[in-house]
Amino acid sequence: MHKKLQSQGTWIGKWTFIFAATGSAVGLGNIWGFPYKAGTEGGAAFVLIYLLCIVVIGIPIMISEILIGRRYGNSPINAMKKSGIESGKSGVWALVGWIGIIAGILILSFYSVIAGICLNYIYISAFPSGQEASAQFGEVISSPINLIFWHTVFMALTMWIVSAGVKDGIGRIVKILMPMLGFLLIFMVFYAVLKGEFLKALSFLFAPDFSKITTSTFLTAMGQAFFSLSLGMGSIMAYGAYMSKDQKIITTSFSVGSLDTLIAVLAGLAIFPIVFAFNTGLGEGPGLVFVSLSEAFNQMNFGRIIGPLFFILLSVAALSSSISILEPGVAYLAEEGFLRREISAIVISLLCWFIGIGTALGFNILSTVDDLGESVNPILNSLELISVQILQPLGGLLIAIFVGWFMKEALIKSELGNVNKIIYSSWRFFIKFVAPLAVGFIFLSQILPESFLVQVKEFFLSLFN
Ligand code: TRP
Repeated sequence: MHKKLQSQGTWIGKWTFIFAATGSAVGLGNIWGFPYKAGTEGGAAFVLIYLLCIVVIGIPIMISEILIGRRYGNSPINAMKKSGIESGKSGVWALVGWIGIIAGILILSFYSVIAGICLNYIYISAFPSGQEASAQFGEVISSPINLIFWHTVFMALTMWIVSAGVKDGIGRIVKILMPMLGFLLIFMVFYAVLKGEFLKALSFLFAPDFSKITTSTFLTAMGQAFFSLSLGMGSIMAYGAYMSKDQKIITTSFSVGSLDTLIAVLAGLAIFPIVFAFNTGLGEGPGLVFVSLSEAFNQMNFGRIIGPLFFILLSVAALSSSISILEPGVAYLAEEGFLRREISAIVISLLCWFIGIGTALGFNILSTVDDLGESVNPILNSLELISVQILQPLGGLLIAIFVGWFMKEALIKSELGNVNKIIYSSWRFFIKFVAPLAVGFIFLSQILPESFLVQVKEFFLSLFN
């Protein structure tokens, strides 16, 4: 029998779980991912579809992860194993936990390199070299030593917090990081309202252009909702193991989902007014914050103060996420008694650090050129493909199927406690039917060739003609 993880500590007070889970959810995905995707995928139309995905897929899966984590109080591998067995099925469900841990190691191996670039930019934006932002960004990513240095710093911070445990490490740090993040973000939004093109940004983000919606909008919105809520790989399940029994799972999941969405929207409202006011180009992906926004910081009056504040915000958000990516694997090694918690944190971090070197080199000496002549990071792309586009939706799909179809309903009900009947039945419906179908669709769309998807789409369109 495995000892419950709570012997390694618990969250103190119900806010700590909310801070920790929100900290996990809010990260690089919210602050650069959401704003630029909302911009390129049809503005308000995308935002609406995204909200729908959060409510009908994201939150139902989050509820399922927390309920399994809390019921068994173990790392995702053992929690899934025990819940499979207790529901009269088999322990093979532990596989879901394994998928999560592997996905986590791969995600952290690129997340940490990007977060390292954010740390580097705290310094760069405080002491600009006078060159253009795009040249500056080129210089940053062309130096393997520089990237590896900041990746090492970020990984070491993550390792240090996780090794200190749930009460003294993660629980304590999120109570500092999350209010700091909220404060910095609100400050940035105020600054953007006063100094930037706020109305233009509002219409860019919220004036719907339904003509821009394609199948890819749905896929992007679902994928983004999934990544943003940290679902499908056990982060939230592992955090659930430390949650107190009297906390309400459904209400808490709604709070975390809403805070995550609110912060993504606020990030858009902090970034776009500035990018518009200084006319530095919308860019895309990493380019938006590291090039367009940095160029704006170079040009504005207090850029050498606002810039570093923004990159501190981004780094804080990334750190409170990276600790949740590391936690499931560390919790597993520690609860099995293979290694002490501190040593487990060191071992897994070293592994992520090592693979991360590949990500760093992929930006320079190992980079390749795509059909359009743009340089690409083949290692980052492969890591992201396997972890975020394949393993994560697969994990989410299996969790939804397990809870919807295999887990004993009596167990679920006893864990959820007293819940309004309508809310319970809606959740049941979403987790049984909507989530598996929708996630199954994202999952297949990631692995099937595009030509096949086009045929499927044409088939459906032909039904309506
Ligand atoms: N949600 C975080 C972000 O938006 C990243 C993250 C943390 C994550 N834990 C995860 C992503 C687990 C996938 C799975 O940046």
